Amino acid sequence: MKYKLAIIGCGRISIKHVEACISNSNIIQISAFCDIDIQKAKNKSELLSSRTGDILKPVYKNYQKMIKELNPDIVSIATESGKHAEIAVNCLNLGCHVICEKPMALSTKDADEINKVAKKNKKKIAICFQNRFNPPVKKLRSALEAKKFGKLIYGTIQVRWNRNDDYYRKASWRGTWEMDGGALMNQCIHGIDLLQWMLGEDATRVWALTRRFLKPIEAEDFGTAIIEFKNGAVGIIEGSVDVYPQNLSETLSIFGEKGSVVIGGIAINKIENWNFESDVFLENLKKNSLSSNEEKQTIYGFGHIPLFKNFVESIEFDREPLISGESGRKSLEIVLAAYKSQKTGLPVTLPCDFSTLEMKNYFS
Ligand SMILES: NC(=O)c1ccc[n+]([C@@H]2O[C@H](COP(=O)([O-])OP(=O)(O)OC[C@H]3O[C@@H](n4cnc5c(N)ncnc54)[C@H](O)[C@@H]3O)[C@@H](O)[C@H]2O)c1
Repeated sequence: MKYKLAIIGCGRISIKHVEACISNSNIIQISAFCDIDIQKAKNKSELLSSRTGDILKPVYKNYQKMIKELNPDIVSIATESGKHAEIAVNCLNLGCHVICEKPMALSTKDADEINKVAKKNKKKIAICFQNRFNPPVKKLRSALEAKKFGKLIYGTIQVRWNRNDDYYRKASWRGTWEMDGGALMNQCIHGIDLLQWMLGEDATRVWALTRRFLKPIEAEDFGTAIIEFKNGAVGIIEGSVDVYPQNLSETLSIFGEKGSVVIGGIAINKIENWNFESDVFLENLKKNSLSSNEEKQTIYGFGHIPLFKNFVESIEFDREPLISGESGRKSLEIVLAAYKSQKTGLPVTLPCDFSTLEMKNYFS
């Protein structure tokens, strides 16, 4: 069976959703495109047709009308972050499974509402943290699950990127508290998701220091935070979109009693260090073959393709997708706790209830 999927929001990242559907065309068929700017929906419909030879798909301005008329099995949401929650809740209530771009929402309350409504309607939801499918990250995860690290000590995520003024000028929602958040919420949340996934998924406390140094935005362009996990491990976040003159690297490092792994490259796609007490020779061999394969990746990577496949399988076999709504909520809560810590000047104990809206006017 092929699942009918409609895309809501046809801007910059939506190309990755189109490509994920094309690559999974044995199980997914795009049935329509929706954007309040109808020309963008038409552009994506034409792009799909030019790549596949398919007839042009219907385009809509109103996603609720689209769902009522076409009844898609799945919608993928790629609108501004501040709109994800309302659209996801409505689509779940209209009977669709939902793939939602990161972050799933901009407040813990909204994330909880999405998860509650998905459960009530018995629908699946996945969040696009596609880097979990990067081959080096999968390899790291296998080593972790095989308990090769021994006791986990600490891990770091370093996002040393640049977003120029043009990036913010092209879409006025970027960097606003109402629709986006700053470097931690938009750019670093992928790495924070990986860090917390590797270090036990059970953050208990967050201390943060954030700044708006250079960018013409409301929110932070630089953030650091320390995360304490229930198992005793410590996570360290360093994130910037101010690195001169362009993107430098995004690096995830995990250190345990019996192992050290560093995955760098432009976006956590190249193994730079792979060291375990066991299997030294074999591990080094695998490391060399992997790093040369992965170096060519872009910042978005190719993870949307396996993520969409994993999502369809979760529906087919009635199991949780790898990045469920509950799983996708964890990094959101860490970022919101970091914001609260910056605002209060105190460490924040989780669970924490916070919204980006509570940061309004903070840096002005
Ligand atoms: N997974 C990733 O690596 C990744 C990368 C970039 C962006 N993103 C996320 O994707 C989302 C979109 O980012 P973008 O850069 O593509 O933004 P964008 O501004 O380029 O596109 C958003 C689109 O949504 C449309 N839209 C807004 N409201 C709508 C509605 N009610 N119905 C239909 N369409 C609507 C807008 O008209 C616009 O075309 C953000 O949440 C962002 O954080 C994820």
